[in-house]
Amino acid sequence: MTGDVAGIWDASLHALLMSSDAGTAAALRVAGLVLVLLAAPKPTRVGDAAGLCGATLIAASFAFMGHTATHELRWLLAGTLILHVLVAAFWLGALWPLHVVGREEPLHVDAVVVERFSAVALWLVPLLFVAGLILSVVLLPDLAALQSPYGTLLIAKSAGFALLMGFAALNNRRYGPAIAGGDAAAARALGVSVRVEWAVIAAVVVAATVMTSLFSPTLH
Ligand code: HEM
Repeated sequence: MTGDVAGIWDASLHALLMSSDAGTAAALRVAGLVLVLLAAPKPTRVGDAAGLCGATLIAASFAFMGHTATHELRWLLAGTLILHVLVAAFWLGALWPLHVVGREEPLHVDAVVVERFSAVALWLVPLLFVAGLILSVVLLPDLAALQSPYGTLLIAKSAGFALLMGFAALNNRRYGPAIAGGDAAAARALGVSVRVEWAVIAAVVVAATVMTSLFSPTLH
């Protein structure tokens, strides 16, 4: 903020930053991460609640920065963005345990876990899309804005989402029932599918970050 390294030691700048929306977002993220770290070592009821509160604080921090924070419909967009980010976090976070269960547990346990994950994802994932659509419709001034760098990244995100839907259908319709029927090859194929899904979601998150921090929905 000052243009040289000495600015790092300037307490008045830190105070200014902490009183801004960026300061609130950073404070929420640090508090959220502390709760998630405290919850991580052992699954207990209190720990689970702390982890959930931490994840919610981190998701809420997104509403204090970016284009939604400066929009006149800020409070409508804030709730929508928090929902969007929470579902994205659930999806990305669920894939690693799913992969570990597939690798280390017997097929009948794997089948139950895949079935339960699919049942939750079936109603959560459409929410992510609906929230993304509401954000897009409110933030973009017109259809021509889809040709801007912001719009192009939004289209790329949507393409990533469509690809993920393809994988989800494959897991749900083919691999899930085959694993339940004792097919070990299907469990291995699901493992590959989950890793590819993870990479696609990570790429979509990078696209979302670039889109929100470097470009504007209204400038084209
Ligand atoms: C797996 C799919 C998706 C993931 C993981 C994802 C992730 C994210 C994340 C993490 C943010 C917050 C970015 C930030 O504030 O720094 C975000 C914002 C957003 N997402 Fe998504 N998203 C996905 C799909 C979609 C889809 C399909 C749409 C459109 C239909 C969409 C539209 C938006 C919009 C408009 C924003 C707000 C950007 C802004 O504040 O300028 N997202 N998304």
